[in-house]
Amino acid sequence: EIYLAGLGGVVPELPADLHRLEEVARTRLTPQAHGYVAGAAGAERTARDNLAAFDQWKIVPRMLRDVAERDLSVTVLGTQMPAPVILGPVGVLRILHPDGELAVARAAKALGVTMTLSTAASTAMEEVAAEAGPRWFQLYWPKDRELAASFVHRAKESGYTALVVTLDTFAMAWRPRDLDQAYLPFLQGIGVQNYWSDPVFHKAIGGPVTEDNRDRALLHWAANFGDASLTWGDLAWLREEWDGPIVLKGIQHLDDARRAVDAGMDGIVVSNHGGRQVDGAIPSLQALPAIAAEVGSRITVLFDSGIRSGADVAKALALGAEAVMIGRPYAFGLGLAGEDGVRHVLRCLMAELDLTLALAGRSTLADVGRDLLSP
Ligand code: FNR
Repeated sequence: EIYLAGLGGVVPELPADLHRLEEVARTRLTPQAHGYVAGAAGAERTARDNLAAFDQWKIVPRMLRDVAERDLSVTVLGTQMPAPVILGPVGVLRILHPDGELAVARAAKALGVTMTLSTAASTAMEEVAAEAGPRWFQLYWPKDRELAASFVHRAKESGYTALVVTLDTFAMAWRPRDLDQAYLPFLQGIGVQNYWSDPVFHKAIGGPVTEDNRDRALLHWAANFGDASLTWGDLAWLREEWDGPIVLKGIQHLDDARRAVDAGMDGIVVSNHGGRQVDGAIPSLQALPAIAAEVGSRITVLFDSGIRSGADVAKALALGAEAVMIGRPYAFGLGLAGEDGVRHVLRCLMAELDLTLALAGRSTLADVGRDLLSP
């Protein structure tokens, strides 16, 4: 479609290459919005290494395999997907665009892509659900158990079908760009609306959030955001509260992947939060093959951190992921062009994945295995 439009002289407004899209975002977004998305922990080594890890694997194309009919659709944890690409949770998206999470929900729905709504969203989960297609909810497990239960029950009520529990962020890491930019004033303006709209949260601060008690609400939010005392034993409680699939996000060690299986979880996301938590941590792609080989036949293994192209998706699939999540690319798309920008990013990524696999001689996901790659 893009090539054909080009024949007619139409030059797309946004680049088709997602690395280039990041460069455009750097020049067009405010420094605060750009810094919020691009930033990572410490000297940002892990964020860089996440990208570089993909260069260590090369695709080996095969020829004459009849790839005229192709189908990349897949069902993950009961959710049908046109391709193995999911929008990962990204908080406070209204920092990037006034329509924030709603624009993302509309773009994803138009393409049948699953979105994962962050606990730290700037739009309440019920409002997003009203506009969204397939949707999962990401839980930042708060210190207040009653609040955690409330989030989970609200998510169920409003049709989120899987719970993605982020384990690697019970506290925000040392993120110099955020510290330097002090983006918290933005938060005051747009709010973390899943908290702001929660009856348990209201009880704790003595009523709904208003102009007058916003600072109090932010302090209470910050104090309750995560629970550093959680252990594997606590997952049994969550199992009681949520009867759908549970996915643990932030797994990097083989033993933790095994523990997720033992704890009766349905899936994991091999992820280092896009390098935003532990600077110097191993690139997420490096953790994937051993984990997928060990637990992939028992639970769903998803992957994120560093996906920027269709070839990157192909490599993660070949190394054992059932599907991938993306973060920064669609956040930048949102910042540059709202709903259209998110749709652009998804279409580019899915089209490039389709072409890459076809040109490599693969027409379905079942054909994508370790033999796609050479080190
Ligand atoms: C994130 N991520 C994230 N994860 C999560 O579980 N809850 C959240 O609220 C957020 N918020 C968030 C904000 C921003 C600006 C970014 C860039 C990321 C992490 C996200 O889900 C995902 O793990 C990474 O973004 C994947 O890496 P890439 O695709 O950005 O390289």
